[in-house]
Amino acid sequence: MASVLVIGSGGREHAVVKALKKSRHVDTIYCAPGNAGIEEDAICVPIEPLDFGKIINFLQSHKDIAFTVATPDNPLVAGITDVLQEKGFRVFGPSKKAAMIEGSKIFAKKLMEKNGIPTAKYSYFTDYADALYYILQAQYPIVIKADGLAYGKGVKICTNFKDAENAVSAIMTEAVFGLNNRNILIEEMLTGHEVSLLVFTDGKTFKLMPSAQDHKRIGDGDLGPNTGGMGAFSPSPFFTPMMLEKTIQRIIKPTINALNADDCTFKGVLYFGLMICKSDPYVIEYNARFGDPETQAILPQLESDLYEIFDAVIDERLDEIDVKWSRGQAVSIVAASQGYPGSYTVGYPITIDPDVTDVEIFHAGTKNIDGELCTNGGRVLAVTAIASDMQASRSLAYNALKKIKFKGMYYRYDIGK
Ligand code: AMP
Ligand code: GLY
Repeated sequence: MASVLVIGSGGREHAVVKALKKSRHVDTIYCAPGNAGIEEDAICVPIEPLDFGKIINFLQSHKDIAFTVATPDNPLVAGITDVLQEKGFRVFGPSKKAAMIEGSKIFAKKLMEKNGIPTAKYSYFTDYADALYYILQAQYPIVIKADGLAYGKGVKICTNFKDAENAVSAIMTEAVFGLNNRNILIEEMLTGHEVSLLVFTDGKTFKLMPSAQDHKRIGDGDLGPNTGGMGAFSPSPFFTPMMLEKTIQRIIKPTINALNADDCTFKGVLYFGLMICKSDPYVIEYNARFGDPETQAILPQLESDLYEIFDAVIDERLDEIDVKWSRGQAVSIVAASQGYPGSYTVGYPITIDPDVTDVEIFHAGTKNIDGELCTNGGRVLAVTAIASDMQASRSLAYNALKKIKFKGMYYRYDIGK
């Protein structure tokens, strides 16, 4: 039996922990830093994901740990995989170079351009005056993005010059996403259905996960500001077998090959954020990791042993593994704090009726305060149900949500509708 260390503290990490807990190989799961829900399934250690020194110390004093699972974007882009590997530890997660596919949108665009991978047309700017000149002449709408990581807030869809100027100024002159994140991309706006498709890959082969769709806006009917994700369903009914085949041939295989050719072999979870325009898939973004909240809808469908998959990816023998999924419809609904994605109050007690069964509850922003489960973030928890069809899983999930209470609890009513 083995131990594993999972890095992170969100609903996604709770889903990874719960899936690893089902493994026949795992007896102890550590999570750094985790949350109050993860504490029920793992031993939480108070180490922040970017504190590589403390993580190394922890691994050195816990030789029973078979590998570390690095899930959040920040440590991956900062090179956690390389740093731990240099010390002799095994890690599930891409190298710093491979994580550039998420860490720099300009890198990702150039890779797609060079390899004929379908994506929105774009220009990029490192100079404010050049960007201003471009937006003066642009055909609106346009999409303006910060090149680097931006906590999911780095994308603005602009319908006029004024909005575009504000977006460009915020990133390039006010440096709202940091002094090292002032370059921008300007893209044509694509319209259609968004689908998230995630794969496990060891750089040689890949195994598909069921497709998913995230709901990014705070309000029902996709209204209001963007959030980290208010819910997801999986699979997506918009993603037909024909679309999957096109995506494999035009996007997944060429991306994995292109990364290999650039000496950036990707090992881990590669996330394709797609827009289905008319009947063709385009890449909107890549992530170098599991998505949140897609993972809370995807991993409960996994029938295979997640430890075996991670282990095989690390050792580049994923071709030996049969990755099986159940055939239901999963829906995951996020319960958030009133005010999110703006300011909100934390520390409210959470009560979960003991007769809430038939669903999985993944904690995100929760904390134990004097033995009481309390809110501790914008997105507090996610409730996932799996049933034979969308209506049945929606009704399971929404019934469960009625039995969970905290002050200011907010969720969308239209996830999967
Ligand atoms: P990203 O951080 O790149 O995933 O962008 C966040 C969201 O902005 C996406 O999920 C889309 O909804 C939207 N978006 C990004 N790029 C485009 C585009 N070129 N056309 C239309 N919508 C986009
Ligand atoms: N759900 C999108 C992301 O994880 O970035």
